[in-house]
Amino acid sequence: MKRPLTIALTKGRILKETLPLLNEAGIAPLEDIAASRKLLFDTTLDGVQLVILRGSDVPTYVRHGAADMGIVGKDMLLEFGAEGLYEPLDLKIAQCKLMTAGFLDSHSDRPRLRVASKFVNIARRHYAAKGVQADMIKLYGAMELAPLMDLADEIVDIVDTGNTLRANGMAPLEHIADISSRLVVNKASMRTRHDLISALVQKLSVAVDRRGEERG
Ligand code: PRP
Repeated sequence: MKRPLTIALTKGRILKETLPLLNEAGIAPLEDIAASRKLLFDTTLDGVQLVILRGSDVPTYVRHGAADMGIVGKDMLLEFGAEGLYEPLDLKIAQCKLMTAGFLDSHSDRPRLRVASKFVNIARRHYAAKGVQADMIKLYGAMELAPLMDLADEIVDIVDTGNTLRANGMAPLEHIADISSRLVVNKASMRTRHDLISALVQKLSVAVDRRGEERG
């Protein structure tokens, strides 16, 4: 039997906003993903399955062809690289901004700026492009704590409403990139399963446009 076409997704906000788009493309999981501890799900479309991964692992699975397609935040693609992947569609969901942030009245007496982030590659490139010498501190969450606890002078993080920064006395400083979820496709799968994949990309594209028109 032919291997199922596998689409990699992540739980949380991306999953919630992706399922209606997949539904319009004729793909719905046969059970409730959010309520299950399973990681692989058959779908209503014969020969298509969904796999649930950490966002940072989606580019890896798709690059190696363990998943044929994936839906992942642009932040992950910028941080972990998009080599070996096609990025045919901006799904325009989970939209937010990648920014530097910190205290507006920060007066560090350190000789070099300290920046805490889970996006250390993006952060390194950003400060290097400005000609600012900065030391990176890798964190895995709750970046806002780093300036509060004097672990770092600034952070590089996702900003949506800005509420988390405000609640911790900080503000967004510099815009680095607009972020949204992207559809990525393994390059070999694009050749070997071209008909199915391009039909899905087309249907998802129509669904994204329709959503855009509904929103105005
Ligand atoms: C993200 C980000 C901020 C927050 C920003 O965290 O790291 O903490 O959302 O949103 P806001 O501007 O609307 O306050 P998320 O909740 O995704 O959890 P994470 O720390 O696991 O990334």
